[in-house]
Amino acid sequence: MCGIVGYIGSKDAKEILLDGLKELEYRGYDSAGISLLCDGKFSYFKAVGKLENLVQKMQKCSSNGSVVGIGHTRWATHGKPTEINAHPHQASRSFVVHNGIIENYQAIKKELQSSGVVFASQTDTEVIVHLFESFVKDGLSDYEAFEKCIDTLEGAYAILLMTKSSPDTIYFAKHGSPMILGINEDNEKFFGSSDAALIGKCSQVIYLEDGDYGCVTSDSITLYNKEHTRAELAFVPLTVTKLSAQKDGFRYFMEKEIYEQSEVISDTLLGRLSDDMIVFDELDEALFDGIDEIKLCACGTSYHSALAASYLFERLSKIRVSVEIASEFRYREPLMSQNTLFIVISQSGETADTLETLKMAKKAALRSLVICNVDNSSMVRLADASILTRAGIEKGVASTKAFATQMMVLWMLSIYVAKIRQSLTSKQISDEINTMREVSRVTLVKEGMHERITRLSKRYLHGHGFFFIGRDIFYPLALEGALKLKEISYLHAEGYPSGEMKHGPIALADPELFTIALMPQHMLYEKTKSNIEELSARDSTICVISSIEFDKADDFIALESHGHYMLEFFEMMIALQLLSMQIAIRLDNDVDMPRNLAKSVTVE
Ligand code: G6P
Repeated sequence: MCGIVGYIGSKDAKEILLDGLKELEYRGYDSAGISLLCDGKFSYFKAVGKLENLVQKMQKCSSNGSVVGIGHTRWATHGKPTEINAHPHQASRSFVVHNGIIENYQAIKKELQSSGVVFASQTDTEVIVHLFESFVKDGLSDYEAFEKCIDTLEGAYAILLMTKSSPDTIYFAKHGSPMILGINEDNEKFFGSSDAALIGKCSQVIYLEDGDYGCVTSDSITLYNKEHTRAELAFVPLTVTKLSAQKDGFRYFMEKEIYEQSEVISDTLLGRLSDDMIVFDELDEALFDGIDEIKLCACGTSYHSALAASYLFERLSKIRVSVEIASEFRYREPLMSQNTLFIVISQSGETADTLETLKMAKKAALRSLVICNVDNSSMVRLADASILTRAGIEKGVASTKAFATQMMVLWMLSIYVAKIRQSLTSKQISDEINTMREVSRVTLVKEGMHERITRLSKRYLHGHGFFFIGRDIFYPLALEGALKLKEISYLHAEGYPSGEMKHGPIALADPELFTIALMPQHMLYEKTKSNIEELSARDSTICVISSIEFDKADDFIALESHGHYMLEFFEMMIALQLLSMQIAIRLDNDVDMPRNLAKSVTVE
């Protein structure tokens, strides 16, 4: 959600900032902008739409010499995606970029307006730069004005600000939205709202904490913490490589990431499977002492893996589980008891709603665990324990390999807990583990399946809606299949429990209602079959995904014959991902950056 970059150095600032924004574009792509301060002179550029439009606008700009620059790629929250609302926002001598939401912006704006300040945009961000300048006007130094400015702001933010009177300085603040500061051997300084923007540019980084603020010049870094005391510069090496963020000949990141799943699942399993137990070196078994309930909390696709995991935990670990949508949980005054293990699931580790629920759990003194794809993310730093999913950088906004690896970790965790609680025999545990070893093979994309789905997809470009249906753990998979389709095809789709269709949705059944039916051989096959027959009798158009041919289906996507429902789960997952992608391609949609969405939602 929005990307921020900053640079101080003597190389080509324009290229460095554009390159950083390119890496972050998948986080927000309504508009983008850059401002540069070169030899005491400001220049700025903004463009609506994809970053390419900004690149075109900046073609003639040269930025060699000693330059300070900040840039932003936006996912609109306040105000439409117009050029005026694009960041950086300016006052008379300063520019600011911001990620997050300033909750008290209206009150600040009103006060500034009453003292004669004129606002150009509809954004909350613009108040920051005017507020800063109003404090300077009152006689404060730039530094004092910035400090007072962030003390006045309420809400979530990551901010970079530059001003003419401190021409070689970037002021920064972080509260609730991610921000990383990086350096390299050439004495260059970088900012990025995610490490993707910094890979290949710097070697050492500081993951700023909430309440951190300060300023950076070409030869100094001043960092204060939330107590307003000078903080140590705790640099750590930036280890991520750029390799995992390229398309490698695939048409879309989503396609590449679907094809990568087999490999990243092997990575997820690496060193974690022994013959009769799951090994999580990162966990201390004491985390589970006295625990008799697990609460899983997440958003979006991660919520679907939470829901799917609830079936595994109850079936295999025999432990009570509740599943929560983070945005609901945080405001419903939930009851939290200390024998509950609070597990958050997040690809990014930055999703604002999920992060907030983790803070609530910590405040209530619950033990916490995060299942996350990004090391050093806010959630990983906050939780008592973490398990990394090892999916690598996921760029497609529609999550694929992150979901696959989350499912793998959650399945492993259910066996890990089963061992502690002795709810499965050694034989049962080793059978599950042997099945896990097959997932990497099962998730290899078979060209035959991809071709079949490509052909089928042309029949599913219209209609008045899709129902994805399944039972048991295949119901959350149906939800995920429907979400994928919605996200990138913009067609209406719902996930529904097969057995629930007769309680309302079946009223919609006609040939223009498309049912995508998940029919696993090893999970309630006969029950699901009856539900699909009911829909078929009402002339709904039905596409069945199964290893057993079904004569009532209009279309059929064949799976291999597997010995375990989880293998069917993972192969169906691939089929659903390919189906959405191929439909979106035929509709000529932007598969990797679908309209209105963002990869990481750092506002509530
Ligand atoms: C956004 C993304 C989804 C993702 C959700 C939760 O909405 O577009 O793909 O599932 O956020 O993100 P997280 O990083 O917490 O898993």
